Amino acid sequence: MSELGVNIDHVATIRQLRGTLFPDILMAAQLAEEGGAAGITVHLREDRRHIQDRDVYALRKSIKTKLNLEMAVAPDIIAIACEVHPDEVCLVPEKRHEITTEGGLDVLGEFKSLSRAIPQIKSTGIRVSLFIDPVADQIRAAADLGADLIEIHTGIYSNLEGAARDQALQQVIEAAALGQSLGLGINAGHGLNYDNVKPIAQIEGMGDLNIGHSIVARAVFTGLKSAVQEMLTLIREKT
Ligand code: PXP
Repeated sequence: MSELGVNIDHVATIRQLRGTLFPDILMAAQLAEEGGAAGITVHLREDRRHIQDRDVYALRKSIKTKLNLEMAVAPDIIAIACEVHPDEVCLVPEKRHEITTEGGLDVLGEFKSLSRAIPQIKSTGIRVSLFIDPVADQIRAAADLGADLIEIHTGIYSNLEGAARDQALQQVIEAAALGQSLGLGINAGHGLNYDNVKPIAQIEGMGDLNIGHSIVARAVFTGLKSAVQEMLTLIREKT
């Protein structure tokens, strides 16, 4: 059954906008866990625009579920990850001016740097996930590199409607099947919301769905715990 990883970057974004100490990121993680999250995800960006180094260390100490650290393949961030020791690291592409992560990692193009980074991170006992588009060659390359998991980028699926969305869903389904056949764990995320999450949650063998924007946006009206509970209800519905 799929589980929910709650991405709380947006909570830190609000805090950083004013340079205050609130909203409290640890409280956000606690409420997400109380709502049923199986994990907490944060992205320590190279530009530190939302999550700060101190957040990652504090979350490691305080959360009761698992910590998934999203990050670029950058030596200084890898060093922090190895020290903090999250349960999982998800390697993502990062561009300085993007609003959010745009597209998956080019595993084939970055093969050399990934072939150094992945064993380094894994040697400390952290599971390594690669955020990739639902493309067969990228998935095969992730398996060749010894990644433990892939997180299938659902951004394209999420932005489409009707028949085009069905086609994009089919690509995610096929990517999940290929990944499993290669021994990879399968997660998914980006752009998932209360209207489009169910078909992704129902994919055979789907693991964690990492969701941030839609949950934090709903939390403005309902509170975070309730927003997480609502999402989890949809993920767990069979039909
Ligand atoms: N997965 C990855 C790798 C991401 O970079 C993000 C955005 O930070 C998410 C999932 C969550 O996406 P969203 O905020 O659209 O739910």
